[in-house]
Amino acid sequence: MKRKLLVTNALPYANGPLHLGHMVGYIQADIWVRFQKMLGHDCTYICGSDSHGTPIMIQADKLKITPEELVKNMYNDQVRDFNDFLVAFDNYYSTHSPENQAFVETIFKRHVAKDNIAKRVISQAYDPVKNMFLPDRFIKGECPRCGAKDQYGDNCEVCGATYAPTDLKNPYSVLSGVKPIEKESEHYFFKLDKFNSMLHEWTRAGHLQTEVTNKLDEWFKDGLHDWDISRDAPYFGFKIPGEENKYFYVWLDAPMGYMASFKNLCDKEKKLNFDEYWAKDSKVELYHFIGKDIIYFHALFWPAVLSGADFRTPTAIFANGFLTVDGQKMSKSRGTFIKARTYLNHLNPEYLRYYFAAKLSERIEDLDINFDDFSNRVNSDLVGKFVNIASRCASFLQKNFNNQLSSALSEKKLFEEFSLAGEQIAKKYEDLEFSQAIRQIMLLADKANQYIDEKKPWAAMKDPARHTEVQDVCSMGINLFRLLMIYLKPVLPETAKKVEGFLNISALTWLDKNTPLLNHTLKTFEPLLQRLDKTQIEEMKMSAQGDITESKSTANPFKETISIDDFAKIDLRVAKILQAEYVEGSDKLLRLEVDLGSEKRQIFSGIKAGYEPDKLIGRLTVVVANLAPRKMRFGESQGMVILAVGSESKDLWLLSPDSGAEPGMKVQ
Ligand code: MSP
Ligand code: ZN
Repeated sequence: MKRKLLVTNALPYANGPLHLGHMVGYIQADIWVRFQKMLGHDCTYICGSDSHGTPIMIQADKLKITPEELVKNMYNDQVRDFNDFLVAFDNYYSTHSPENQAFVETIFKRHVAKDNIAKRVISQAYDPVKNMFLPDRFIKGECPRCGAKDQYGDNCEVCGATYAPTDLKNPYSVLSGVKPIEKESEHYFFKLDKFNSMLHEWTRAGHLQTEVTNKLDEWFKDGLHDWDISRDAPYFGFKIPGEENKYFYVWLDAPMGYMASFKNLCDKEKKLNFDEYWAKDSKVELYHFIGKDIIYFHALFWPAVLSGADFRTPTAIFANGFLTVDGQKMSKSRGTFIKARTYLNHLNPEYLRYYFAAKLSERIEDLDINFDDFSNRVNSDLVGKFVNIASRCASFLQKNFNNQLSSALSEKKLFEEFSLAGEQIAKKYEDLEFSQAIRQIMLLADKANQYIDEKKPWAAMKDPARHTEVQDVCSMGINLFRLLMIYLKPVLPETAKKVEGFLNISALTWLDKNTPLLNHTLKTFEPLLQRLDKTQIEEMKMSAQGDITESKSTANPFKETISIDDFAKIDLRVAKILQAEYVEGSDKLLRLEVDLGSEKRQIFSGIKAGYEPDKLIGRLTVVVANLAPRKMRFGESQGMVILAVGSESKDLWLLSPDSGAEPGMKVQ
């Protein structure tokens, strides 16, 4: 029976390049989709860039481009990387699109109408210099347990403690370095708990892997909390209708990007009907491939958001484990961070596709890429076993038989055994047990090689009376190879194309396994896959290292460039310090009275650690004269004294103009 499927991959963020870890899930889904298409099913495969959120805004800021420009550039890079890894989406779109905005607004409105949205004021960390609320990952500080510096707000990389961002000692904003303050603001919440019974049922109805269902049980026990779906400006995302400064949180509109990408495809290919795929009563199978870190969003929020807005829910969600490199978490400092592009500059994408396939299962296990193992597998399995069958037989057929295959199979049983094995291999692909499929295919490859070894065509070739036998053996060999190519085609689409050329046939489908290729002329055999040379891996690792040091050395040590007009806004003046005294209750500040020529001001300055008050009186220095006055506990500060500062808190120096300068003079 012909099935209709819609398959999605997690939408990668548009704030940084794709790396080898990302490729696990995309290669897994691509293999599965190619398998479904080979079976003749109607399978549509979509993805796109996840283009919203604070990190994208910050990254664009750093690069001095607009978020729209950043998102466009990243989109182009992602398309190129996926193409070159042979990941063949039917559509690759973006969450920053009119379709997606329409979906998020419609779905939001439907939930508002059903009273699934609450509004309330919450207090959150705020960067008073950057004037923005800070997501947890933009706050660092000292670990409350071991005191390690520069730890993130959820766990300590040194001692492993877990805690809340508010537990950090001496917290600071990663963006400005200042201590975050608490600030209140009104937020929108999705009432997840209203979907408790729906989710309870849905998560147990066979849509999820067992490990996921178990994990969800823990979350259910904790209770389902309201989900904060709004963010305050500045933010890069979609504005909430009716609000001036509030945006939808990126994770609300991100999964709707699946619908937007599909809608966009429907508009290009008229045979697809959006409602047939997404309406509540849809019969189409919908599958989401994701990584294990985003299960919560897909297995709880997403089904609730969909069902509450009267759309269909997913048929199943498949989560993959995380990639480690040579046994370690991918990390820039360890040099195990390999960009997809860096890999592609040195190695054949099919090697990685094969290696992942050989290790992937249906379970959410982390998967390690060990480069010795990687090159051994590629060379011994793909080149040594698989390609070898074809090259051995092809050379005899070409030299002696005009590339002509025999008109009958000499070993029908052997062919049938290979053909029948295809049923089990198909089952393994269907169940996402790729490693088992590959193991079975390689056992068959061993068998095919054994067959040729036993028949010794090179010996028979010496006896003219046995020449037909050689043609039959080699025809058998090519037919066995052809079945193996069918079974490997989802993993090795590029090689399959070359083989189809060599075999002189149209694109192989799964059903082709049932009929042998006989009485047929082949094309000239061309080398299929090259042996992998270990120096290629060394070179790739060296460029991966290079990527990292390069990004470090080009990092700008200075703040963002400003225009001369920006600078001109700062009114710097020579000031004479008339009075200086300690401030009771403050261990950092001195109270100064300064003369600006035309007027006198009171300034609280954090220079106590560097100077005794008496030593300051009578000195000339430089102050910012037009800084907005700030109310402090001790009184109003009416300007700021400029200081040179070192790394220790006591490293403070006052700037002094040479003698002759007068209070009130401009500094420019
Ligand atoms: N933008 C979100 C997904 C939104 S889906 C509506 C996101 N993006 S991501 O760029 O961080 O990750 C993209 C995919 O790659 C996710 O499925 C994620 O789990 C996966 N992986 C990211 N790092 C990975 C590894 N090191 N190993 C395996 N998968 C990894 O999450
Ligand atoms: Zn610690």
